[in-house]
Amino acid sequence: MPEILVTGGAGFIGVNFVRHWLTARPGDRVVVLDALTYAGNRESLAGLDEDRLEFVHGDIRDGDLVSRLVRERAIRTIVHFAAESHVDRSILGPDAFIETNIVGTHELLKVARACWLTDHPGPHRFHHVSTDEVYGSLEPSDPAFREDTPYAPNSPYAASKAASDHLVRAYHHTYGLDVTTSNCSNNYGPFQFPEKLIPLVLMNMLAGKPLPIYGDGSNVRDWLYVEDHCRGIALIIEKGESGRVYNIGGLNEQRNIDLVRTLCGVVDARFQRDPSLAALHPACPAAKGGRCDSLITFVKDRPGHDRRYAIDAGRIEKELGFRPRESFQSGLAKTVDWYLGHQEWCRRIADGRYREWIERQYASAGRPA
Ligand code: NAD
Ligand code: DAU
Repeated sequence: MPEILVTGGAGFIGVNFVRHWLTARPGDRVVVLDALTYAGNRESLAGLDEDRLEFVHGDIRDGDLVSRLVRERAIRTIVHFAAESHVDRSILGPDAFIETNIVGTHELLKVARACWLTDHPGPHRFHHVSTDEVYGSLEPSDPAFREDTPYAPNSPYAASKAASDHLVRAYHHTYGLDVTTSNCSNNYGPFQFPEKLIPLVLMNMLAGKPLPIYGDGSNVRDWLYVEDHCRGIALIIEKGESGRVYNIGGLNEQRNIDLVRTLCGVVDARFQRDPSLAALHPACPAAKGGRCDSLITFVKDRPGHDRRYAIDAGRIEKELGFRPRESFQSGLAKTVDWYLGHQEWCRRIADGRYREWIERQYASAGRPA
């Protein structure tokens, strides 16, 4: 059975990718390597076919461990998701971002080079999952990011991802490693850790807590349903040209304030349709017939907050025939339903590492707890 190694496979997009891959390729096995930081959850992989999924608890910076895995399992494909991924955390403490995103990516590349080019030459692929944030910030009338847009990362997170992109590129050009890179816009959907905008405001709505909007809420992001992203990555692994970069986007630019108001409307309607939700979430304004958008609170802006991201996804559409399938309405509805149906998952996360750390940070940054 062919095996692929998925780094960061217990995080938000990694979990969705593992689920997608196991369903789409019934003949394959997946090895997940994940350090289980605050953002990784072993239980997010629960219920999957144990015969086709192996979980290894470890760090991508541990070159010996990665090398052993690649050799013993005869891995020929690595899909690299593992990262520190939250911009606010990178502003508060950049060190972990340098370690995992730059040093960790380099460890993986060194192992891939030694195993695939020197010791056991043969077909292989290293797919690097990156972000549109490496391109910097757009003004409202600027054209969308293309693959040849110059890099201009603004946060420590974006700079660390940019550095890792350059290392991946260099290993292709210098050593001939078979690599592909995808730079994607904002993802949303099941299993996202509730420090990112959509799950954060969703959980706060249900708890009747303020919905913190940074600045005036006019910053723009392009939102893609996570399963579409996973499908795009799978397509690149299968058909993408070696050494090539592909932008992936949702064709769905939204101002933060509009997105949050839309999400409030989805939750209000959900409570109206299903009166049993009121007993489960009594603090939610919608439980008493009120409106969730009454919780919107404008707070101090994120330092260096990028104004707008937008993706020109022409290359992946033309060359690989990729387009997102999920509409924003259907994707948001699925996401709300998933979080409502997985309150136990949310509670376990929110009651532990998430609440303590993030609320302390928000409080010291002058944001409502
Ligand atoms: P996440 O923070 O939810 O998950 C990251 C995972 O990596 C966690 O399971 C964590 O335990 C693991 N990890 C962290 N450090 C590790 C280490 N040193 N060794 C092994 N595992 C480690 O992140 P995500 O949102 O799923 O993002 C996945 C990837 O996609 C990242 O590379 C990110 O830059 C990129 N990306 C994310 C988005 C988005 O909107 N979330 C958009 C574009 C690109
Ligand atoms: O663009 C891709 C990137 O999208 C990924 O590379 C990152 O890993 C991912 O975290 C995401 O980065 P953002 O900074 O755009 O995502 P976040 O959910 O943190 O914020 C989305 C927007 O909402 C952003 O403009 C900041 C704003 N925001 C965020 C939070 C957490 C708020 O207004 N209030 C909040 O409480």
